[in-house]
Amino acid sequence: MPTFRAPRGTRDLLPAERVPMTRLERVAADLAARYGYHPMETPLFEDAAVFERGIGAVTDVVEKELFFVGARADEGERWALRPEPTAGIARAYVQHGMQTWPQPVKVTMTGSMFRYDRPQAGRYRQFWQFDVEAIGDPGPAVDAEIIELAARFYRDVGLPDVKILLNSIGDPACRPAYLEEMTAYYRRHEARLPPLERERLERNPLRILDSKDPAMVDVNAGAPSMTDGLCEACAGHFEAVRAHLDALGIGYTLEPHLVRGLDYYTRTAFEVYPAGAGGQQSAIGGGGRYDGLVELLGGRPTPGIGFGIGLDRVLLALQERADRNAAAEAILAPEPAPLAVVVGSDPADTATRLRLATELRGAGLAVRADLGQRKLGKQLEAAARDGAHFAVIVGDELASGQVQLRDLDAGTQRPTPVTNLARDLERAARTHHHG
Ligand code: HAM
Repeated sequence: MPTFRAPRGTRDLLPAERVPMTRLERVAADLAARYGYHPMETPLFEDAAVFERGIGAVTDVVEKELFFVGARADEGERWALRPEPTAGIARAYVQHGMQTWPQPVKVTMTGSMFRYDRPQAGRYRQFWQFDVEAIGDPGPAVDAEIIELAARFYRDVGLPDVKILLNSIGDPACRPAYLEEMTAYYRRHEARLPPLERERLERNPLRILDSKDPAMVDVNAGAPSMTDGLCEACAGHFEAVRAHLDALGIGYTLEPHLVRGLDYYTRTAFEVYPAGAGGQQSAIGGGGRYDGLVELLGGRPTPGIGFGIGLDRVLLALQERADRNAAAEAILAPEPAPLAVVVGSDPADTATRLRLATELRGAGLAVRADLGQRKLGKQLEAAARDGAHFAVIVGDELASGQVQLRDLDAGTQRPTPVTNLARDLERAARTHHHG
């Protein structure tokens, strides 16, 4: 047992995982740019009140999962690591007067989030999200744009058959009546509620519907549906969102009990699950509208909508898939092998090998130098193990300005002037790849 290990619920992303994760981030960045969402970054920690107020005090994320940062209490500071990006982005929107910018303000952020969750497969205490937000547009068209963007991300990374669950959870006009009806329902079934849910019945009944407790599955199935009690404005909005999604050919499943785990949502709410996922499986993404959030954080009333995609879970879904398509294979593929490895007959002459490799790297080529002081045969074996296409072999003919260029797959080699090496390698690589 090593003395030190990564903290519980966190993990090291070794190259085999970091490389595909970087590819997911690249797809995310490219898509966001194509759709006109601009990258931004908020601090990894905020005044804890940003999350308590924004996400809601009676939510799992705030009640149980906030990571508090060792702040200097004597200076009155209370910080928490960000459990999600939306509250911090809304805080930044207010702080920087973004309501005076052209609306909507469309931003994207990708990075680590922190939740003191019970660790298990796909549930980590530090995890990665791709987040997109459009603030300042009441919808409904932008709601469909956001959902379509999320759907395209999954398709582009090799998960074309995800399941999108869609609901509307109303607004302050219609939700109180629904909450009353819901509360009455759970009161009738109070005996079947676990203690936490019984307590939530008093403090935040909507959270009961989002319970992860298996004992709640049956009770929740019979609960009244928000969509039956939507006010006219919310019902019209929801209908228009669906019409826009239909026009885009985006498939979805109506899920009248979907409420999401954060309190800021109004109207549109959606969650995404891998194909064939069972009821208890974790979402690989989710989002929705939050028309009250900016105001909660001290700004003017401003509508907003966005989503967060859990990149760790997307990666798991890709790894677990038996029927990977080409896009999925491209995300999971190992790092490309170096084009060439510079080896030499004089084990001690590492300086020349390093110098040649440096020149080739300067010319833009992916080249490794064998810097171990071992025999040429061993160096060539290592180059083949690397999967390199070529070996540049430094020998006595370097005195006359030449090296041997060896095609490791074909097993052929020919002398090449050092001055032509970069150009020769490039040309050889092209015919190699296409041949
Ligand atoms: P969320 O549903 O709490 O929403 O998180 C979004 C996604 O992050 C989840 O669907 C899941 O894939 C991933 N995720 C959450 N917790 C964990 C965890 N402990 N380990 C691994 N992955 C996790 C939000 O965070 C909202 N900010 C989304 C949003 C943006 N709504 C509007 N704008």
